[in-house]
Parts: sequence; C-alpha cells; structure tokens
Amino acid sequence: LDNGLALTPPMGWMSWLRFLCSYRCDLDPENCISERLFIQIADRMAEDGYLDAGYNYLSIDDCWMEMSRDANNRLQADAKRFPSGMKALADYVHSKRLKLGLYLDIGVKTCAGYPGSHGFIDLDAQTMADWGVDMIKFDGCHANLTDYARDFPAMARALNKTGRPIVYSCQWPMYAKYFGGEVNYTAIAKTCNMFRALTDIYINYHSVESMILYWGSNPYNFSSVVGPGSWNDPDVLTIGNSGLSEKQEKVQMAMWAIMVSPMLMSNDLRNVKKSSRDILLNKNVIAINQDPLGIQGTRYLQSGSISVWQKPVLPRGSIAIAIMSTANNGNPILTEYSLSSLPTVRPDQIYEIFEVFEMKSLGLFMPYQIIKVYVEATGVVLLKAVPTNPQNTDL
Ligand code: DGJ
Repeated sequence: LDNGLALTPPMGWMSWLRFLCSYRCDLDPENCISERLFIQIADRMAEDGYLDAGYNYLSIDDCWMEMSRDANNRLQADAKRFPSGMKALADYVHSKRLKLGLYLDIGVKTCAGYPGSHGFIDLDAQTMADWGVDMIKFDGCHANLTDYARDFPAMARALNKTGRPIVYSCQWPMYAKYFGGEVNYTAIAKTCNMFRALTDIYINYHSVESMILYWGSNPYNFSSVVGPGSWNDPDVLTIGNSGLSEKQEKVQMAMWAIMVSPMLMSNDLRNVKKSSRDILLNKNVIAINQDPLGIQGTRYLQSGSISVWQKPVLPRGSIAIAIMSTANNGNPILTEYSLSSLPTVRPDQIYEIFEVFEMKSLGLFMPYQIIKVYVEATGVVLLKAVPTNPQNTDL
C-alpha cells in the first residue's frame, strides 16, 4: 500500500499469541487484556532495548472492546479493563516514543464475538484516528467471501480519509484462501501494508517451520508483490515464549529476516530469558530484515533436508544467505556450498563472507570456492556475502 508507511517491515509487539482473549481480570489480573498489561509491556519495550532495536509498535489484538457500541454507534474500550480509555493509553504509549496498534474485524463480529466493523467502516476508521491509533489489524471473521474484495479496500480508503498515518495490516489472503476464493496478491499488496497468508502461528517449532515451508514454495509468486509498503505476513515471532529451543528461535529470527516478514513479537516481555532477548535484539539480523531494498528472500536450492535461501541486500551486490535444515534429529550436517549457484553472482567478483549472528568473517571467497558449514537439526546458518569491490558490480 502506497501510503508512505511501513517502508521496511513493521516491528513491534502484538498481544494475541501470548495473551489471547484473557478477559478475566478478576482471575488473572497480571495477564488479562487490560491497560495495566499494555502499560507494563510499553515500559519493557522502552526500557529493555526493544524500542532502540526498532520494535516500535505495541499492538492490541482482539478482546479490547465492550460487547456493544455506544449510543452514537462508536466502538468503546472495555470500561473495566481500560478504565482510562483508549485515548489515554495511546497517549501513554506515545509518551514512550512507541506507536499503538488496535484490532478491528471486517464482519458483524470479531472472531471472539465483540462488535465488528461491518456497516461502520468509516466511523471506526475515524474513531481509530481520534484516539491516536497508528496501526490497525483488520481481521476477517463473521463475513462472507464477497465482502473481502469490497471491504478491505474500503477500510484502506477510510483510513486514508482520516488523514492520520495508520499502518494497515489485513487478513485478506488468509480468509479468501480459507473460503476457496481468488487470492489476488496484486490487489492485496496495493490495499494493505501487510497481509497474513495463513492461519495462526502457534508456540511450537512445527508451526514456525510450516510457515517457512509455505514461503519457500512461493505460492501465487507472492514474493513478487513485496517491497517497501507491502509485506507478506507469516504471523508473529514466538521467540521468548517456551516452545522453541535456542537454535529454533534463531531459525525464526533468521528466516523472518530473509522473508522480510513483519517482526511483531508476541511474548511476555516482563519475563523473557536472556538468550531469547539477545536473539530478538540481534542488530545484524534485524538489519537484514530492515534492509531498505525490501526484497523478499526466496528458497532456491533444496537437497534432502537442507534448503538454501537468498536475499539481495545493501551494500549493492551483497546477498544474505540462509542454509536451513528441516531434519528434526541427528548430528549437524556438513553442507558444501558455493556462491556460483546464485543467479546474481559475478564469476570474477571476490566476496567476503560473514556469519551474521556474530558478524564473524569466514574469509574471502571466489564464487566457485566451496564454503563448508555445519547446520544443526532444526537449525540455520545465516551468512552474508559482501563483494569486496562493489564498484565492479552492476547488480
Ligand atoms: C484470528 C487471527 O488470525 C488471529 O491472529 C487473531 O487476531 C484472532 N483472530 C483474534 O480473534
């Protein structure tokens, strides 16, 4: 969507995967969807380095509303759980130099049964702008297939009309696919800043890996519509929850970077172990995700359980490379790989190759020279090849 926003994949935090629809503050005051929770999360984002690393959107998913609209048909935040109101929460979030995201649904109800935006698209967009919301996630429950092609664009226009810069995240491909309808990625990328292709990610490695495998198959050639302003969304980062081992958390981080996926964490930032935090804050990996060229990486080699992905990045002529193993047990696998198999490599160019997490040089390589790396089961090696003489390359 060409609204001047999301020129690199949005980064931040989102409530759903970790906190779901926990509305029982009487039973679990620490973890229920409430202003208290989001104030605490905002503080952690601002104080623990996440904001400085680029994670700047704090996004509230389903279950923030009252069960009905007010007398003027306006949406209202649950008065018990958000006693200060959504505008006050937005002000607090902004005071921390963060931005606020909020959830709406295209249908008559949200997935969890709160009021939907069907028939109220302009009014709800205006309410978001009035409150100071900076991003909306527009879900697709309780609607018909024919609503999507009409109302996802209608919300884009309504947001634009408010004059407030609001990043627009939509679930259009996921629901169109679910109902067996047409998935028109050209229209979707023109309408939305980010768009979910599949149903939800879960807190386990199988789920993370299945997103990556789907991206590897490049359905509908969907990598071709991606670029500044428009991103394919494989759902949130589960790093920091229990469920993934450290090496598996590195896979999600590395592959979300290669796939230029939005980097929205969904974890309990009050309680994230150091190894997970270090992965989330790794600036070298984030730089690949946030590379200004905004090219979605693609899988271009597959041999047994090993797949190789490439993504052009700056400085010009450089390539980020992920070598990933889908073996789920066994010893690390020795892979022998040369840059000459890449379509964008010049035979006379010398490259310096770095391991990205530590930014450690592996040395200088001509394209035909073999690079040997070990890849662990359910692991990844993330490399970056930088031409030593970039003037020489016209790529
Ligand atoms: C379905 C979406 O896919 C989830 O990410 C989440 O937004 C829930 N709906 C909320 O009800």
